[in-house]
Amino acid sequence: MLFDAPDFDAHEGVHFFDDPASGLKAVIAVHSTHRGPAAGGCRWWTYANDVAALTDALRLSRGMSYKNALAGLAAGGGKGIILKTGTGPKSDALLEAFGGAINALGGRYVTAEDVGMSDADMTVIARRTRFVSGLPVGGGAAGGNPGPSTAQGVFVGMRAAVRHKLGRSDFAGVHVAIQGLGSVGGGVAERLAAAGAKLTVADIDEARAARMAAALGATHVAVDEITRVSADVFSPNALGAILDADTIANLDVAVVAGAANNQLATPADGPRVQARGILYAPDYVINAGGIINVVAEYLGDGDAASVAARVAEIEPRLAAIFAEADASGRTTDTVADAMARNAIGR
Ligand code: NAI
Repeated sequence: MLFDAPDFDAHEGVHFFDDPASGLKAVIAVHSTHRGPAAGGCRWWTYANDVAALTDALRLSRGMSYKNALAGLAAGGGKGIILKTGTGPKSDALLEAFGGAINALGGRYVTAEDVGMSDADMTVIARRTRFVSGLPVGGGAAGGNPGPSTAQGVFVGMRAAVRHKLGRSDFAGVHVAIQGLGSVGGGVAERLAAAGAKLTVADIDEARAARMAAALGATHVAVDEITRVSADVFSPNALGAILDADTIANLDVAVVAGAANNQLATPADGPRVQARGILYAPDYVINAGGIINVVAEYLGDGDAASVAARVAEIEPRLAAIFAEADASGRTTDTVADAMARNAIGR
């Protein structure tokens, strides 16, 4: 049941941590260390049950292997999940216990921020382990919160998609519907507004959506409307599995390009998107900016300028995937997966 599950995909290791003293319940999944230490952020989230948390860890971890390989990084793929209980903030004791858990893996897994985690949290984790990245850094250095690099990668990746599908080389007047205005979605919205795009936005944090819409001259719609907005591009920047039979049937866009991980709810959803004539930018290719920054910080390999140059490569990489998908008739996600599996020796 576990070893044969599609999401397991021959993970090198899956580790469970239960520390009653601090309240830590965590999963660290290590999919592959073929290219280097398994790098991938940590998510702090409420799950319906433990199996849902494990499934999320496995899917995200494999996604990190693919993402890091296609981004050309000397890193494997892994993911940390801290199960959120209650409604209170995280304690330092919980984060330190998570740091201890990472340390126990001896460097096979290196953490950074994901949903629910900040650079300040990384600083607390770093009290107990050196296998942590995404720490606050001074100007000019690589590293820090990966959100801005991810947002920049989504911006240039979306440009590749808009060029391929709409024949447009800039965003002037291009209408983008943005779901989620957090660390990444907010940065995507700011870049698109500065480039002259027309924006429609939604966030479950209504106050944030209203504030950003006012600041950027965007239209603000309800959370359940954003996937049905008639626009050029839908940009999912909240949580995964947003592309399912139901949402795909109702999409009214030419392109899907956003940062959310695991956007396709099932393997059948890639062909569904393709059948609707919508160009899908594979999530782990377009959202690699943050991990490019994180790995450069961890490996001490480059500065902010070289990170920016590597993030810029997301645009031609996606253009090549789109061209190969057109030439072969395959979906963009299967083209990307084949490239990634080749790069991790599987
Ligand atoms: P975040 O937690 O800063 O922002 C997420 C935003 O989405 C929040 O404003 C939240 O209120 C909103 N949201 C949640 N559910 C929603 C819904 N149903 N409808 C509309 N809005 C909703 O997270 P962050 O860092 O911006 O990440 C966003 C997505 O991008 C996640 O899927 C994450 O895994 C992915 N990602 C993030 C990276 C990063 O560098 N932060 C890197 C690669 C992927």
